[in-house]
This record gives sequence, structure tokens and C-alpha cells, in this order.
Amino acid sequence: MRIIVCKNYEELSEKAANIVASQLTLKPDSVIGRATGSTPLGMYSKLAEMNKSGEIDFSDVISFNLDEYYPIQKENSQSYDKFMKDNLFSKINIKPENTHIPNGEATDPIKECDEYERLIKENGGIDLQILGIGQNGHIGFNEPDASLSSRTHLTNLTENTIKANSRFFASSDEVPRQALTMGIATILKARKIILLANGANKSRVVSELLNDGINTSVPATLLKTHPDVILICDEDAYYGTRLGVDIGGTDIKFAVVDKKEVKFTDKIKTPENADGIVNAICDKINEIKDEYKIKNVGIGTPGEIKNGLIYASNLPFKGYPLEKAVSDKIDLFVTVDNDANCAALGEIIFGSTNDCDNLVLVTLGTGIGGGIIMNRQICHTKNNMGEIGHFIIKPENGRKCPCGQEGCWEQYCSSNALVKDVGEAAKQNKDSIIYKLMTEKGTLNGEIIFEALDMGCEVTKAVYKKYIFYLARGIESLANIFGPDCIVLAGGVTLQGDKLLAPLKAELKKDIRVEISTLQRNAGALGAAML
Ligand code: PGA
Repeated sequence: MRIIVCKNYEELSEKAANIVASQLTLKPDSVIGRATGSTPLGMYSKLAEMNKSGEIDFSDVISFNLDEYYPIQKENSQSYDKFMKDNLFSKINIKPENTHIPNGEATDPIKECDEYERLIKENGGIDLQILGIGQNGHIGFNEPDASLSSRTHLTNLTENTIKANSRFFASSDEVPRQALTMGIATILKARKIILLANGANKSRVVSELLNDGINTSVPATLLKTHPDVILICDEDAYYGTRLGVDIGGTDIKFAVVDKKEVKFTDKIKTPENADGIVNAICDKINEIKDEYKIKNVGIGTPGEIKNGLIYASNLPFKGYPLEKAVSDKIDLFVTVDNDANCAALGEIIFGSTNDCDNLVLVTLGTGIGGGIIMNRQICHTKNNMGEIGHFIIKPENGRKCPCGQEGCWEQYCSSNALVKDVGEAAKQNKDSIIYKLMTEKGTLNGEIIFEALDMGCEVTKAVYKKYIFYLARGIESLANIFGPDCIVLAGGVTLQGDKLLAPLKAELKKDIRVEISTLQRNAGALGAAML
């Protein structure tokens, strides 16, 4: 499925109309499948304008509508027959005999459906099908169900649809309880499909469509089996208002993001047990969800996620079903991912690297973590790919790593490795500046190391040179493997800015765009919001 995210409804309508116009240019006698509802109205009015100005011609076009209420009189102000006449057919040069809509007045609805299906076939099938999407995931009136009828059929409307569509009627009692609709197989037989979604009230179903597997309880997910579907949505439907939660060993951070604007941030201490963490997250969600109209929650957590269970060494998650535990307590759509993946997503959406499509985030902290983004999506694999701190940079006589390997990159280039190496060198050179600073302050950390470098400490310089050497080799390898548009560095040592970046760039043997994160510790919650 291709996705086009438009700034607003106007742009969405224009893009959709342009696709229809291109279709008619390529094949003037196209068979177009049409949708009703509020979403395609903007597109229909653009098509009418284009037709009026002579840009497109409908004289050979054949049109089949997706559905119609049943029973309903054609002249009823809410019939789709009237909708199409008022909003499109009366404004374009289409021949009335070429416009087909299931007949809501038919005395034998089953026969009407069979006849409709036959007529579509007789006209050569649908070239371009236009679809809207219901808040419950329906397409046409194919409502969520355990099994879906595949051909044009008579169907019962769900309460959700009756409620959503009651806005067009005097009251929900007046909404017909049944409809005639093309079936899923009828829709999937179309050669090309455009699916339109706009507004924050569609953000939840758009998330389900994009994130869920194919299932009949969100009928639109069946479109994922079609080879040529374009989802055209506006930013409200695509992003909605989202809450990002970043669970860390010390704090849990929260960020509310509306489209791409950060509306609220907060942080609380991380409780000690798993249930405490879930309760604290849910309490915060309940506190703010109405105020910010939150539809989706993304959670970033350290550790591995296998079959929905989290295994994290520095949190009380030892096979813990975090996503289920949170969604069982709140009525919102919840997604969980690894925190480094979330941070990488945060960088590509909110960071200075938001112009990139492919990015590798490298976090130089206690160890080395990171996330890989390809085509603006998190790179997920079953087997924990993305453990970039554990590729082997020194295969012979490499340092032992707790992961069981020897010579892992993080043993040479994490912030901790730098502090450890400088500390050892200092102890062996008791007349050095760094040894003096270390003993005076009673400790050693990144700041003291850079102070020693500023003071011209030769011992520290030598260790730092080696550190930069290994860092550069690692970055070159990542660039060779992933070919990213940019490698973003974050974590402890990167807070030194140019004191890290300048020697690193000088050491790199390839022209690689490397930047220091502008978001640092906020990237995780922001990225989680966008999961
Ligand atoms: P809407 O309806 O365009 O009015 O939101 C879409 C649908 O229910 O399919």
C-alpha cells in the first residue's frame, strides 16, 4: 500500500482528483467505482471544476457506486442516488445511463445484488475504485464481522455506522438498518484503488489499518492483499493526537503530539514493579486523554519484544505483556516498540535530520544502542537486528563483552568505555594532567575527560584519538551496510558537541553525513508518539 500524507483536506481532495483525472486521460472509457460520505466531496467538486474547464471528459466514463441504503427511496434526501446526482453527476458530462447505483427501491434485494455484480463484470470490471473508510474500518458497507461476504450483497449496518451516519438524518432512528453493498471481492477485483481518509476521527482506524495484520474485524485491512492501493490521508487522520511514553530505568517520559506539534511533556519516576509501571502510565493517560483528545498511545521500552512479551534487563519486564496490560486498562489504541527504535523514529520526524528517508541512530551511553530507519519506517526483524553496539570491531584479542562475544563495538566506543580507558591510562601515568584532575575530584566522568583535553593532557589525547579511531571505523561500517542519508549520534559523550564531531569527521575516510542529536533524551517519547 502506498501512502500519501497531505497537509489538509484541500490537498487530499486535489491529489485524489488528479489521480482520477490521470486515469481518464489514460483510458477515457474507464469504469470508476465511486464512494459516498463526506470524504470524497472535495474530490468530486474538484472533478466537476476540471470537467467544466475542459480538462477532463466523462462522456465515455462508466460509474458504479459502492453501496446504497436499503430500503430507501431514490428521492430521499439521504439516498446515495440523490447524493451522487447532487454532488457529481449533475455537474459533469457523464451519461445518466452510464451511472449505476445499487437500487434501494428493489423489491428483491438479492436479485438486485446479483444483477449489479453481473453488470460490473459485463462492463469489464472496475478500473479505479474510490473508497472512504468508516471509523470501524468498513469499506463500502462491509462491516466488521467474523467472516465477510465477498460479492455484492444485502447487509445489516452496525450500531457504530448507524451512529456515525445519523449526522445526515433527523435522528438515528431514521437511518436505514440495512444496505446493499459491493463485497470485499468485488472491491479487490478493481485494478487500482484509492482509499481516502481525513480528520482526527479517522486516526485510530488509519493506525489499525497500517499496524494490524489482515483481519475481518477491520475490513479495510483486506486491502493489503491488493497490489495497487494508495491511501491518501490528511495529517489529522495519519497522525491524530498521540501520546508517546518512553520508559527508562529512572524516569518515564510523556509527550503529547498533535500532528507534529508537541503540545505537552511530563516525566515521572519509574515505579519498581511492572504493575506499578502500567498503573502509573494509565493514570497519566486518564489524566490527560480528554484534554488532548488522545487517540493513540505509543510506548517505548528497553529490551527485546518477542510475541508481545518484553524482556528487559534493567526493568522488571521479564516476559511481560506490556501492550496488553496497558490496553486492557484504557480504551485507546496502544503500540509498543523498543525504545531505541522509537528514538530513531523521533529523530527522523522531529530532529534536524527530518529531511532524511534512511537513518541510523547510534546512542553512545552505558553501552551502544541504536535504531535503524529505512524509508521512514523502523526496521524490524524477528531476530533483534539493530544491536549495533554488538558488531565486532576487533576480532582478534577483542575485549570480552557481557553478551558473550569478544571485540564488540560498545566495548570500545560507548561513553562508559571512554571513561574506563581514560581511567586506566591515568592510573598508569600518575604524572599526567588527567590523573591529577581525577584524584582532585575523587571521580572520573566525561566532563573531566574533556577538561583534561582542553588543558592539553597528552595521556587523555592518546586515548581519545584511539576512541575516535574506533568510532569512525564503526560509523563507516554502518554507512557501508545501511547506506543511510545520515547517522545521528546521541548519548553521554555527544553532549560535547563539536569536540566529538570535529575530530570524528576528520578521521572518517568516507563522506558520511554525521550529526549529533538535537533531541537527545526527548527523542524516545516523541518517536513513541509516532509509532
Ligand atoms: P465519511 O464516511 O466519508 O462520511 O467519513 C466514510 C465511510 O463510512 O465509508
